Amino acid sequence: MTEQIFQSPKKRGRIAVFLSGRGSNFLAIHDAVKKGSINAEVSLVFSNKQKAPGLEHAKKQGLETLYLNPKEYASKNDYDDQICEQVQTRDIDLICLAGYMKILTPGFCEQFEHRIMNIHPALLPSFPGLHVQKKAIEWGVRYSGATVHFVTAKVDMGPIVLQAAVPVLQDDTEESLSQRILEQEHKIYPEAVRLYFEGKLKVKGRRVFILD
Ligand code: GRF
Repeated sequence: MTEQIFQSPKKRGRIAVFLSGRGSNFLAIHDAVKKGSINAEVSLVFSNKQKAPGLEHAKKQGLETLYLNPKEYASKNDYDDQICEQVQTRDIDLICLAGYMKILTPGFCEQFEHRIMNIHPALLPSFPGLHVQKKAIEWGVRYSGATVHFVTAKVDMGPIVLQAAVPVLQDDTEESLSQRILEQEHKIYPEAVRLYFEGKLKVKGRRVFILD
């Protein structure tokens, strides 16, 4: 079988951010957009949680927001079909998951292959899933960190774009480690999005090459 190759587009792009909570990664991306470091605009901030603080931040920034109540849909597929329609209507190039706490259906992931990124607070493929800062401390690893990756139907397993490592200290709590990792998240997520719209990400199989 021939290996699939994808190269990100060099263009002024349209981003949709999906979030369920406080939205600090969304703000980091949007700050980079405002500074002009990312050649794109945030065209939609979407949430499955009506009261997500991130949605409020987005409204204050004058961005378009959308909330869809999952309970109003008969199935996960129906819900994601509706999100898909909303994304397509707005001609979105890249979806950035930023603390979006709902697993996207395989159909949605396939529809937007190489067009969805996620940030995860551990060095994947170690510690996929939830509460990973606590799990890293309990496991006794010396280093953890953050990973930006493309999203595939296999949760937390898509091609890795960027990673940043941080030490795990002897007296770390879940909160202190989370904070140290979050500082790195706010650096590598905007950087990954910047590279995307510079046309500098080339994906071969599951390896992502950063072009000069
Ligand atoms: C971050 O820790 C991110 O890695 C994880 O969810 C959290 C979202 O935080 N996926 P925020 O809403 O961006 O502040």
